This record gives sequence, C-alpha cells and structure tokens, in this order.
Amino acid sequence: MLIKKPADIRPSEITSRDNYLNRRKFMQAAALAGGSLVAGDALTALVPDQKQAKLADIVPSQYSTDESPNSFMDITSYNNFYEFGMRKEDPKRNSQSLRTRPWSIEVSGNAEVTGTFALEDFVKPHTLEERIYRLRCVEAWSMVIPWVGIPLADIIKQFKPMSSAKYVVFETLLDKEQMPGQRSRSLRWPYVEGLTIAEATNPLPILAVGVYGEVLPNQNGAPLRLIVPWKYGFKSIKSIVRMHFSETRPGTSWEIAAPHEYGFYANVNPDVDHPRWSQARERRIGSDQGTGLQSLFSASRQETLMFNGYGEHVAHLYDGLDLRKNF
Ligand code: MTE
Repeated sequence: MLIKKPADIRPSEITSRDNYLNRRKFMQAAALAGGSLVAGDALTALVPDQKQAKLADIVPSQYSTDESPNSFMDITSYNNFYEFGMRKEDPKRNSQSLRTRPWSIEVSGNAEVTGTFALEDFVKPHTLEERIYRLRCVEAWSMVIPWVGIPLADIIKQFKPMSSAKYVVFETLLDKEQMPGQRSRSLRWPYVEGLTIAEATNPLPILAVGVYGEVLPNQNGAPLRLIVPWKYGFKSIKSIVRMHFSETRPGTSWEIAAPHEYGFYANVNPDVDHPRWSQARERRIGSDQGTGLQSLFSASRQETLMFNGYGEHVAHLYDGLDLRKNF
C-alpha cells in the first residue's frame, strides 16, 4: 500500500483519522451485536461515506508521474466547478452541503449490462489505485495531483459495451437546490462530457474517488469524477450520475457553450492555441514555495507538453487525425 503524503500533517487529517477510528469502532460493535451483513459491508466499503475518511488498500500505479504533487490545500482550494460558482474559491465554499450519499450511477445505452447502481456496487469489484497525474487546465494552469481511483477501462468492461457503442458519455448531477450555479446560464446543465470508446478503454483514464489517500472533497467532484490526464481539465467531469454508451458523438458542455474555443477532443496541445491565449506554456500552481493560499500567487511558468506528457500511451489514438481541426 502506498499513500504519498505531504511532509506536514494537517490538523484536518488528524481529525479525520479520529473520526474514522470512532466510526470503525462503532461499526465493529454493531456487527458484533447484530452480526448484521449491512454493518459488515460498511466495514469493508471501498469508499467510506464520511468526509476526509482515509481510503484503505490503495496500490501504486506504474502510470504515476514522479513530479512532486501540489499541496492538499492548492488542490482543494483552487477549483473549477461551475455548479458551485465561477470563481476559483467558490466550489470549496459552496459545495460543502452537497449530499454524496446515497449516490447512484445510471448506466445506459448500447451495453449488455445496464441499470442504476449504488456507488458502493459500482466500485465494489475493483481495487483502488493511486495515480499521480498532471492536470492541465485549458486556462493555462496546471497541478500535479495524487488521485485515488479505478481504471475506467476496468469499470467499462463490467458493463459489456456492444460494438455499436462508439462513445462513452458522462453526466453530472442536475439539482438546482444543491448546486446553485445551475440557476445561472453559464453553461447548459447538466454538465456533459464524453470520450470515444478507444479513449475510454485506454489504460490512463480513471474514475477518481479520492485524493491524497482520502475520500474526494466535494469541491473536487465527490463522490465520483473522471480524470483524463492527456486532455484539458474540462473533460474531467465531476460528481457523475450517468454513464451512457452511445453510437453518436455527444454535444459536450464547453463545446456547446463556445464551439470555436473548446473542441470535443481537447487534447493538451502546445501548438494549437486557444483563440484568446497561447497554450504553449502553463502556470504550475504553487510550484515554488510551501503550501497554503499564498502559493497560488507565487506560481511559475513552464512549457506545456504535447498530450500533457502522456503521448507514449495515447498518441496512437489520433493517427491520421488532423489535431488542428479536431482540437
Ligand atoms: N465538472 C463539472 N461538473 N463542472 C465543472 O465546472 N470543471 C472542469 C472539470 N470538471 C467542471 C468539471 C474544469 S474546467 C477543470 S480544470 C477541472 O474539473 C478542475 O478539477 P479540480 O477542481 O478538481 O482541479
């Protein structure tokens, strides 16, 4: 088991461990008293339902970068999640009351196995992996994030997509009460993203349930979000409630909002600029000193890599495709 941790132990972590141990004690007592299967299941739940709980039995991944991860503070304080507001600090402030249990995922479309699955059942057959990935946002900033999740390819296999399934489409929860940003017309709701079936079954994408060895904070897309490390961050859709196997290419949120600026493919590409800014370089958030909000203002610039540095694993997916037209 490998859980990379920041050098300093945060107070929140100490609290979370205490909460976690208390809950385990409670569940053990309940199981002993009643011998109940439910309590037994909860004891071994792959993704515990309380905030900041530690995830157990995480295995390291051969696909992790050895660059140093951003701090927990940077990763959880500087977010894009328009359902909770448009400024970077909004998601942390406004997402805390999002209810992430019970949570279910509807699997639909051209697959042999479809239906609505509780999160616990959806993730149960799998092992959690830590994948330390670069996340390059289309806004020309980047971070390195120690995600915890399950390879999307393994999840997809379970549902046995048919040969007619050419795309996998994901949707975020639609709930104006819980997600106040959905009352504004900043995007068409629910947030939709998609991948070709070849992209979705490549070994790199994961469905993340955690970060830094802990359950995913709400602002990062709890309880389940996509991570596609060679694409701009907007492909990595948060708080997923639907996975649909489609014959046709979906309209995706940012492409619908501004088709000349954001394409379906959204592969990180330093040679294809956004119409309003260059994509050749990026600002690595918090790369030079310490942790904390201060580091957000002291970021340095570095060159952006083709496919965000993941070309050896994914370049073949685009053989023969004009990446200037298919941006
Ligand atoms: N998913 C939803 N549902 N809504 C969003 O606004 N923003 C995207 C992506 N997923 C977004 C989303 C963008 S633009 C980025 S850069 C990443 O989430 C940011 O992920 P992070 O906040 O965990 O770093």
